[in-house]
Amino acid sequence: MSAIQIQHVSRHFGNNIALEDVQLEVREGEFFSLLGPSGCGKSTLLNIIAGFLKPTSGLISIGGKDVTDLPPYHRNCGMVFQDYALFPHLNVFENVAYGLKVQKVPRRRLKERVMESLSLVRLEQYAKRMPHQLSGGQRQRVAIARALAIQPSVLLLDEPLSNLDAKLRKDMQFELRRIQKRVGITTILVTHDQEEALSLSDRIGILGDGKLQQLGTPLDVYRTPANRFVAEFIGQVNLIKARAEDKREPTGGYRYAASGFEVREGVPLLFEVGRSVVKEPYSSVLFMLRPERISVSLDKPEARVNVQHVTLTDVSYIGNALRLKASLAKGELIIEAPDPQFPELPKPGERVYISWEPEDLVPLEIKGDENGG
Ligand SMILES: Nc1ncnc2c1ncn2[C@@H]1O[C@H](COP(=O)(O)OP(=O)(O)OP(=O)(O)O)[C@@H](O)[C@H]1O
Ligand SMILES: [Mg+2]
Repeated sequence: MSAIQIQHVSRHFGNNIALEDVQLEVREGEFFSLLGPSGCGKSTLLNIIAGFLKPTSGLISIGGKDVTDLPPYHRNCGMVFQDYALFPHLNVFENVAYGLKVQKVPRRRLKERVMESLSLVRLEQYAKRMPHQLSGGQRQRVAIARALAIQPSVLLLDEPLSNLDAKLRKDMQFELRRIQKRVGITTILVTHDQEEALSLSDRIGILGDGKLQQLGTPLDVYRTPANRFVAEFIGQVNLIKARAEDKREPTGGYRYAASGFEVREGVPLLFEVGRSVVKEPYSSVLFMLRPERISVSLDKPEARVNVQHVTLTDVSYIGNALRLKASLAKGELIIEAPDPQFPELPKPGERVYISWEPEDLVPLEIKGDENGG
């Protein structure tokens, strides 16, 4: 069953279209992320779900009920705002109790619920502290406890980890996931951090320019992005525009000639693609090749297609991986190789072999050629 349905939702601010015809469903118990660059409409959509903003058109249902015209306090959503928004003059206990007091929950029950919520975020010992006596991560957890205390049917989180340092952020990501699974609550996380969205979510909705660009599992959106925008937003990418040659290779692959990449002056990079991508010969295709799909070796790899001898233009070692830039006669590729255990790090200017499998080229955009070549 879908917990949240967003049907044809648009939101205009004057002439500015913040959201355009967004259509998606979030399933019961799902950890769902809304991912996209700054200004793409993530907070607008979350605020529409929570009821703090009205859509210009479209419908929102929660738990099968149309809530489009209901105020926030009748939607049973727990919301964590980007800046935590704790009440500075209330201690931790009182902050978490706030929503329950509004709901006039009896005192004993209220105390139980507050302590349960604090224990979920592992802050039972901090009930009497004031917000200013807490670290950023602890304040964050109080905000989550406060949102959970009212036992909402939906948890909405707007960039809840954006102000934390890298280490604390990682820890809190695990915490969030643990709490979400433990309570089993349907959760929507807004983030512009692709790694955060990939590592936490059951599914991700990618927003760009107010439109839903793709909806899928982390694996779907990373491996088979719906378009160039998604490919570039989720991780690093080599984009290779190429034309289908009307020729099968003896190895069974389909041959393409790149534009913008040359192996010698005037000689385009030819490469093989594992499966047929176009219907018409001479069509042009934009391929994506992820940096980690390219292998690097000092010696020429045997019996492989798509092998190139290249010159390194940039080398950086980050411990678990080697990040390289490699240039052909024309065009440059980025490469990320798991620490290849070379006796020494290669240096810029050195020549190495790179190779990739025909299956590693993922088509993003296809254009037919009207002239037929
Ligand atoms: N109250 C408002 N009045 C006018 N324009 C607005 C208003 N709120 C948002 N916008 C515009 O709508 C667009 C989407 O804004 P939104 O806050 O949803 O982006 P976002 O994806 O949350 O970005 P960020 O990652 O920076 O928080 C932006 O162009 C923004 O300037
Ligand atoms: Mg925002």
